[in-house]
Amino acid sequence: MSITTGDFRQRITVQTLAEKKLKHEPIVSLTAYDYATARIADEAGVDLILVGDSLAQVVLGYDSTLPVTMEEMLHHTRAVRRAVKHAFLVADMPFGSYHTSDDAALENAVRFVKDAGAESVKIEGGLSRVALIQRIIDAEIPVVGHIGLTPQSVHRMGGYKVQGKTTAAIDALLRDAVALDHAGVAALVLEGIPREVAVRITAEVATPTIGIGAGPDCDGQILVFHDLAGLTFNPPAKFVRRYCNAGELISGAIQAYRDDVRGGAFPADAESYHLPREAQRALAEPGASVVQRKK
Ligand code: KIV
Repeated sequence: MSITTGDFRQRITVQTLAEKKLKHEPIVSLTAYDYATARIADEAGVDLILVGDSLAQVVLGYDSTLPVTMEEMLHHTRAVRRAVKHAFLVADMPFGSYHTSDDAALENAVRFVKDAGAESVKIEGGLSRVALIQRIIDAEIPVVGHIGLTPQSVHRMGGYKVQGKTTAAIDALLRDAVALDHAGVAALVLEGIPREVAVRITAEVATPTIGIGAGPDCDGQILVFHDLAGLTFNPPAKFVRRYCNAGELISGAIQAYRDDVRGGAFPADAESYHLPREAQRALAEPGASVVQRKK
């Protein structure tokens, strides 16, 4: 039996993602952080929506993903949950939410599902996280893995650098991917690695790979919504394709509004509320008052 949404499209599940890999149907993934954009993405037919910890940068204005908190991630996941009827909903576990103890990590993963309605959580890291990921999966929570350029490791990596460029680094990535695959991750994000390495990992693992800066041969692709829509303020990374310039569009609209307000063109009469004609006439009488004076 398949679960259908109100609009009778099939809901995307862990099983659908696995089937898509087998059928070579690319998995379309996108981040979202609020009700409006999540609803637009869901209705546009995105398969997987990630409430990414990139929230820290693109929505909250931090210069890395590190400061975003569990409470902030839960708050935004709830908003996205209210919008998403079709896509598989993944919440990113923020830095610090799974690093101090496995018990705390499991509790935080449960909060994403129980309190915020996520269907899965994403955890950055390879072999060193496998035991934890296995424990979360054993608690019935699907986990999406994330290897390669893992932004929460920015200080250890010495910056946001493409990973997997030496033989040793490629071997380590393959070991990470295979270990996560054996643990049963629902999908595996490959970020910032050479195309050739992504090809090899995608062939090696049963789980669908979702690339970002990993070339076109992954089982799916993910972009950060603000990158796709042109709502960022720095030059985009090489792997980003801007599908529109919403920043310019919105700025144009705000400038037109500013000019209309300053020039008296907004609001027009048609955009105003009116009293019934009789009350208008009474109000226009000299000395008329709508306030009853005491005698
Ligand atoms: O936080 C995020 O947006 C992500 C994607 C880049 C995969 O982790």
